[in-house]
Amino acid sequence: MGRDEQGPADKTRALRALAIAGAVTALAGASPAAHAEKAITGDDQPQSRILSGAGATTDDAPWVVALTDRYGNQFCGGTLIRAGEVVTAAHCAHDPLTGVERSPEDVRVIAGRTDLRSSQGTEAEVDDVWVHPRYEDFTTGDDLAVLELSAPLPQRPLPVVAPGETAPYEPGSMARVYGWGRTSENGPNSDSLRSVEVPVAADDACRSAYPDYDPRSMFCAGYPEGGRDACAGDSGGPIVAGGRLIGVVSYGTGCGRPGTPGVYTRLSNYPL
Ligand code: ARG
Repeated sequence: MGRDEQGPADKTRALRALAIAGAVTALAGASPAAHAEKAITGDDQPQSRILSGAGATTDDAPWVVALTDRYGNQFCGGTLIRAGEVVTAAHCAHDPLTGVERSPEDVRVIAGRTDLRSSQGTEAEVDDVWVHPRYEDFTTGDDLAVLELSAPLPQRPLPVVAPGETAPYEPGSMARVYGWGRTSENGPNSDSLRSVEVPVAADDACRSAYPDYDPRSMFCAGYPEGGRDACAGDSGGPIVAGGRLIGVVSYGTGCGRPGTPGVYTRLSNYPL
């Protein structure tokens, strides 16, 4: 299960198996928020805007990166955990339309660019995409991928929570999520980095929102009344507590709705 236990041949095999599984679950792999059919009533009350927190900068959060395709379209976030390694979500490593795994040439990592309309910061190419071998789709967990960069980035990486740690996941403990995703459930992505603080939710709250919730590989965060949350486009990005990366934005029903907190990959479950 540790990715270090896997040789390159195993990786390739796992990737191939995934390409097939991905093709089968093509639509399930698509962003749920992008397919949110239910219109929210009285849209855009201030409380229902996600990442209602504030603008953030890559000066303060140098380890947060945007993932774009070769045309510069931002589709996910990620976190630099070592100079040449970015953690993201497994579903970010798949094309949402075809379910086929993105080839490394079609993923760019943008670091040090608060505003994606600028040309600030550094762009890195990807040599290899490692996807958790048990990943099927985000509802069943293991929504984790690691991008090996072709050259190290100069930005400061973020340490990852230690395997087996539980304290940062105690219900009510606060964590901050970052991204360039939508600022309202049906709105456009944000050009500029944003962040918001959310409390970790109890397993029961998460299970009642998501029947497939797996507390081993996931955790939820958000207020019972909703409001502050990640949204489509934030996937793969960091949720941070105590100066460490504790999770990866994975999924949620809508954004910031009461009773459906955001779901994150529980990184203490994975040796990175
Ligand atoms: N799956 C979404 C993405 O691809 C992230 C959704 C997070 N949603 C939430 N309500 N927390 O960007």
